[in-house]
This record gives sequence, structure tokens and C-alpha cells, in this order.
Amino acid sequence: MDKIRKCVFPVAGLGTRFLPATKASPKEMLPVVDKPLIQYAVEEAVAAGVETMIFITGRTKRPIEDHFDKAPELERELEERGKKALLQTVAETTPDGIECIFIRQGEALGLGHAVLRAKSVVGDEPFSVILADDLIDAGKQGVLAQMTRLFERHQCSLLGVERVPEDETNKYGVVSPTPFAERLQAVDAIVEKPPVDKAPSNLAVVGRYVLTPRIFDLLERTERGAGNEIQLTDAIAALLKEQQVLAYEFDGRRYDCGSKLGYLEATLAYGLAHPELGDGFRDLLLQTAAELERDAEASAV
Ligand code: UTP
Repeated sequence: MDKIRKCVFPVAGLGTRFLPATKASPKEMLPVVDKPLIQYAVEEAVAAGVETMIFITGRTKRPIEDHFDKAPELERELEERGKKALLQTVAETTPDGIECIFIRQGEALGLGHAVLRAKSVVGDEPFSVILADDLIDAGKQGVLAQMTRLFERHQCSLLGVERVPEDETNKYGVVSPTPFAERLQAVDAIVEKPPVDKAPSNLAVVGRYVLTPRIFDLLERTERGAGNEIQLTDAIAALLKEQQVLAYEFDGRRYDCGSKLGYLEATLAYGLAHPELGDGFRDLLLQTAAELERDAEASAV
């Protein structure tokens, strides 16, 4: 039976919504509390049993390569200073037995174009895709582990989906669903960023995919679509004419860290849940909330 052993991380986008922070450094290196977004994504893939991490990178993305490389000078320094816990934190960034491969996208021609760059490395096997800016808190196992288990059962492509407010469907790939099983819908159609009054549902695709390798042939034939980009959604629309595609309403809370407000929300949630910082951060928030309330009362007088 096929297993998911490879994960593609498209990290070559321009990150325009996060300018100027993303002018010279990648959006995926933005930290949520003390870990960059891309590390949360890689940890989720490791928890799902993935062994090969394939990063599709572009200009300004060198720090991602450095982050997943060994850092012998830093490790030596920490060892000499007796900082054991920090040494372990640094060493664990690149877990043993995990291979990291970096491929340049060249030009940011869209998510579909980015995924297609992984074709020669993925080969003829099913694989997963994680968009690191969709940070999903789903406990220890992670959403990708939930999806790879479903893949082992159903042996077909799967899309991570979430119900979004109806007036926001124009920001996402949206599926037309038919109930299939608990939390699973058969995808009858999919459309990228439909106008709100034309969306087939409010089930939006959010940054987690398990795909059969047939997607690569279809991506090769995909013309530029919404936003003049080569859209993964359009290739999935072609795929579901040939093979079953399931949408999975995952168990977890998603934070859209590609937007500034979503990123701040993630920082609040992960800060409060942090084992060392949580209590102090909670006190800080309560103090800030009390100050805000006092200011609001004063300006109402
Ligand atoms: P986004 O739609 O979030 O685009 O891409 P973006 O460029 O990263 O950010 P904004 O909208 O300009 O602020 C979704 C995912 O696809 C990747 C991005 O890195 C992100 O993870 N992507 C997008 C690529 O790798 N290459 C592309 O050509 C486009």
C-alpha cells in the first residue's frame, strides 16, 4: 500500500501582504513566539511520518536553508557555555533521518507552478503539500497525520478544508461537496477565489493537501488562471474528473499567518499555551485589557 513519504513546502511566494517584513526575508521565517512558521510545518510533516522535505524556494529564501542546516559553530558555543537545553533546541531543528531538498522556483508564477517544480524529486508516488502560513493547532498529531491516515484508508487525493464566513469565500479555493463520511466530503467541483455570490459552498481549501502524482501531468497542462497565476486548484479541478478527491474537515484551529491580523491571533494563542511564557503572557494581556478598558471609560466621560 502506498504511504506518504514526501512533503512539498511551497515557500517561494512574494508575501506582499506582509511587506515590509517580507522585503528581504521570507514570510515563512516569521516566528510565532519562538519558532518560525516553517518549523511548525516541518514538525507537522515529521509527526505524519514524512521522511523527505522538499522546499520550493525563491529569492530571499536563503534563511530557510540555513535554518534547516546544521549550525556547528552555534552548537559548539552553546556546549562550551553549558547551555544544554538551548543546544538540544538547536539540534532538534533538523531531526535525524530527515532529508531536506531545496528547489528554486525562479519566478513566482503561482502555487501550481511551485508544486510542479517538485515533480522530479517526488516521482511516481503520492505526496503531501503544506502551506506554512496556514498554521494549524491540532494537538500533538497534527492535521497532516490525520490526512495521511485517511489516505492509507481511501487511497485518493485529499484536501484540508474549513468552513469560512460566506463573504470570505472569494479569498480561497472553494469546493462543491457531496457528503461521503464523517468529516469527509466527495469533491464534485473546485474553483479558485469565486465571487461571493458564485461560491459553490463555504468549504475552503486551507493549506494541506495529499495528492496523487497524476497532478503533475495535469499541472503541466494548466494555463494561467485567477490572478494570472498557475493555480493548483485548476489542476485539482482536472484531477477530480479522473480520480476521486475528498475534502477533509480537519480537527484543529487554523491561523492565517499570511495576514497580519491572523498572525497576531496566532501569537496570542501560542503565547498563552507556551509552557514557560504562558502565565507571564496571560498577566500581561490582562493588564493590557484593564488599561484599554480604563482608557475607553475615560474617553466615554
Ligand atoms: P499566497 O497566496 O499566500 O501568496 O501563496 P504569497 O505570495 O505567499 O503572499 P501574498 O498573498 O503576496 O501576501 C500561498 C502559498 O503558495 C506559495 C507561498 O509561498 C505560500 O506558501 N507560493 C505562491 C509559491 O511558492 N510560489 C508562488 O508562485 C506563489
